[in-house]
Amino acid sequence: MVTRPETGGWAPPVPGPPGAGTSSPPLSGSLGQGRGLALAGRTPGPCTPRRGSGGSRGRSPWRTAVSLRRRRRRASVDAGRSARPSVSERGLAGALTMLSRAALSTSRTLVPALGCLGSRQKHSLPDLPYDYGALEPHINAQIMQLHHSKHHAAYVNNLNTIEEKYLEALEKGDITAQIALQPGLKFNGGGHINHSIFWTNLSPKGGGEPKGELLEAIKRDFGSFDKFKEKLTTVSVGVQGSGWGWLGFNKEQGRLQIAACFNQDPLQGTTGLIPLLGIDVWEHAYYLQYKNVRPDYLKAIWNVINWENVTERYMACKKKME
Ligand SMILES: [Fe+2]
Repeated sequence: MVTRPETGGWAPPVPGPPGAGTSSPPLSGSLGQGRGLALAGRTPGPCTPRRGSGGSRGRSPWRTAVSLRRRRRRASVDAGRSARPSVSERGLAGALTMLSRAALSTSRTLVPALGCLGSRQKHSLPDLPYDYGALEPHINAQIMQLHHSKHHAAYVNNLNTIEEKYLEALEKGDITAQIALQPGLKFNGGGHINHSIFWTNLSPKGGGEPKGELLEAIKRDFGSFDKFKEKLTTVSVGVQGSGWGWLGFNKEQGRLQIAACFNQDPLQGTTGLIPLLGIDVWEHAYYLQYKNVRPDYLKAIWNVINWENVTERYMACKKKME
């Protein structure tokens, strides 16, 4: 059984009485194997001076005998190496081959994945399902045109720009840059999500009251439709600065819930509620028509709420819970 080659030619001190070293068994076990792996790259020839092996001068006879035995063993080991690789060398070569294959496999997996990110489709401004002037007299065409073609478009463009930068930061592993981009991602991504929902929540054929299961859920969770309307109006008017009033679905409780969000914070991303109906109370949504009187805008918007769309969203939530 060849165990010494695994030590790579290194021999630990051999304590013991005179003569004991000449018949001691070859070292093996974890220490020898570990050393063999660590030193596998070092293959000095039989004449290479070694630290601590400077001859037998001044040594006792038994130490000299041990030293001679080590030299013979080293010569044998090094001669063996020239003919064939040692166990540890073969093991290392195998390990390197495995590592190379793993690296190749990883790169094969990673590169297409990054390529997929790099070739992602950009976000685009959705078309309105009606003309800019279709919601008049409740929301005029000028507001709708600016709101959609300028404000929402800006969120989409900024989101695409930030996502490109975020992708670069991901590829570089630049976590600081990723963190620095996150507020912009939240603001512009939220703006895109919120407005995309908002346009479909409105309709020139809207207004009135919801029907069926949504109306029943509103009565169950708010007492009556009028109470719900009053509560959502109050919450929306009360948003300080810019933000949104929302009717959301709490999937944990299976109930409707009203919430307010600041800025462009997306409802689901910040509260967990699934958005059903959003009311934009940023000044850009009403100032050109209602000036600073937000409550008048809130009174008017109920005339263009698309209850069919809100009901579809509610039913989709219920279906997911089944
Ligand atoms: Fe808006």
